[in-house]
Amino acid sequence: MTRWTLDDIPDQSATCAVVTGANSGLGFETARGLASAGAHVVLACRRPDAGEAAAAAIDEAFPDASLEVRELDLASLDSVKRFARGVRQAHDGLDLLVNNAGVMAIPRRETADGFEMQLGVNHLGHFALTGRLFDALRRGSRVVSVSSIYHRQGAFDFDDLQWEDSYDKWDAYARSKLANLLFAYELQRRLDAEGVEMKSVAAHPGYAATNLQSRGPKEMGSRLRLLAMKAANALVAQSARKGALPTLYAATMPDVEGGDYYGPGGFRELRGYPEQVASTERSKDPVLAGELWRVSEELTGVSFL
Ligand SMILES: NC(=O)c1ccc[n+]([C@@H]2O[C@H](COP(=O)([O-])OP(=O)(O)OC[C@H]3O[C@@H](n4cnc5c(N)ncnc54)[C@H](OP(=O)(O)O)[C@@H]3O)[C@@H](O)[C@H]2O)c1
Repeated sequence: MTRWTLDDIPDQSATCAVVTGANSGLGFETARGLASAGAHVVLACRRPDAGEAAAAAIDEAFPDASLEVRELDLASLDSVKRFARGVRQAHDGLDLLVNNAGVMAIPRRETADGFEMQLGVNHLGHFALTGRLFDALRRGSRVVSVSSIYHRQGAFDFDDLQWEDSYDKWDAYARSKLANLLFAYELQRRLDAEGVEMKSVAAHPGYAATNLQSRGPKEMGSRLRLLAMKAANALVAQSARKGALPTLYAATMPDVEGGDYYGPGGFRELRGYPEQVASTERSKDPVLAGELWRVSEELTGVSFL
């Protein structure tokens, strides 16, 4: 594959997109890239003021950008419901949903509905969101799930799904990122089985310098870890703009097929330009994915397909 960059995004002027976590890091760059190619972008943000600031920054770079900021807290099923209702009322349909928002390696916390925060925000919130927007997406649309290299360490214990018996912040992150891939592939299997014209694809950014790495150390009050994360970001990570390229490729390119997974093609998939990449056998396990889907429906009260 040749080096694919922002200049290669096809015209998006007919696209109405939702990007979660669009105020920061990869979500911001994804929203910016889509808007630069003419898409109407709904910036779905936990903090509306941060969303407005992000929209202003995109607007400054691209004065013709078509943007809309809406509040979405993925740590609250009520908020997900309100957000989806608002989007459905405001738009005839959606062409693209980018499930990007996330938290990483934070001390154990719970969402408003009592889910462990990383599983709750990274997977269950996006599961509910996709379900609640599903009918709006039934027009040959795409759903992009943002996973991570960390999915490789992910494992499921359905007897302690919420990490009540034991908690390891990295294991919990890995599980949530494995869940993103299990969801993406299972969604495609279900779309195929029902003959629904929609694509479910996945992407990961490699290692990109964003705010993701600092939230955990900040919540732990660890200045040393915060400094270490900042140093690693400065020395090793690629930029958030480059890290967003696999998501943008998966979201916009015509050659993308349902079930594809994109990441950076460089050293150990940590950096580089977008390429199709492989995920673990576990991430493709239909039995595990089916069980996760069933449990996700039960926990969120949202059923689709
Ligand atoms: N950066 C990397 O190297 C890397 C590597 C692999 C995968 N990823 C994935 O990339 C995605 C984006 O992360 P990032 O690196 O861009 O991090 P980031 O800069 O910290 O951005 C995360 C975004 O998610 C939002 N968010 C957090 N909790 C939320 C909630 N409860 N409801 C709604 N939005 C919420 C944040 O909003 P606030 O600003 O309000 O907190 C922020 O907009 C994540 O899914 C992450 O797992 C990143």
